[in-house]
Amino acid sequence: MSILSGRLAFRPRPNDVYLASYARSGTTWLQMIVYQLTTDGSMDFTHITEPIPYFERALSVGRDLNKLPSPRLFKTHFRYKKLPKGPYKRIYIARNGKDVLVSCYYFFRAHSPFKGSFDQFFKNFMVGNVQSGSWFRHVAEWSAHAADTNVLFIRYEDLVNHFERTVNRIAEFLNVPLSPEIYARIAERCSFTFMKQHEEKFGFLQEVLIEFGFTGEDFIRKGKSGSGKEHLSPEQEAMFDRAASTVIMPPPLEAPARTARA
Ligand code: A3P
Repeated sequence: MSILSGRLAFRPRPNDVYLASYARSGTTWLQMIVYQLTTDGSMDFTHITEPIPYFERALSVGRDLNKLPSPRLFKTHFRYKKLPKGPYKRIYIARNGKDVLVSCYYFFRAHSPFKGSFDQFFKNFMVGNVQSGSWFRHVAEWSAHAADTNVLFIRYEDLVNHFERTVNRIAEFLNVPLSPEIYARIAERCSFTFMKQHEEKFGFLQEVLIEFGFTGEDFIRKGKSGSGKEHLSPEQEAMFDRAASTVIMPPPLEAPARTARA
């Protein structure tokens, strides 16, 4: 499925919430804060992309987002104008651009075919010639909407330096109560240490696998002959045999002939 057909199938709801950013700006941190704020905080998910899907990838692989219960939360790296138009709340997290650049460099070296030098990456980043496009344009476009009533603009540095205040702003914006108990849980579970300990629930590769619907079931599966016969219906078997009748394979080995004992 293309992203276009994914978009056509997607039905926006007024209470959808988008958590938006340029890559490597603290999106996953924000996802976890909002997840902890709006649920009972259970860590019973394989990856954070299950409760809070990565919008554009989910659309492009045909994940059925219409099945999710309301209110839906989405992570996105889309530019402002690429998101569905409407009253939906959006929280944008921005980060110091030079820190983003460095974080992107390490990320793309590890997760993309790019294996060039930092100097090369710097030049590419400056002209927006990287997977995530121009950081300058992304942040400028979102900043232009920072005062919109349905946009909350926060910074990674706000979370680092004023965590409680920033979590309060997010809770107010989303109209969700923030008791001291819930705040304590958020502070604990959204700490770098806690998230690092549970990295498999936040990492890139696991996210890709889940969004593509890969289950990671056994690669070394059964190691027996005969699954074909067990699984195919008689019609499927007949169809298969007809198609295979044109394939000439060398015969399988015969059982060794028994040598008569003297
Ligand atoms: P660094 O590479 O600078 O360490 P994103 O989720 O948008 O891809 O952003 C990733 C960046 O956020 C990484 O930055 C990552 O370490 C940082 N990050 C993730 N969880 C964090 C947390 N709980 N506290 C502080 N930084 C966090």
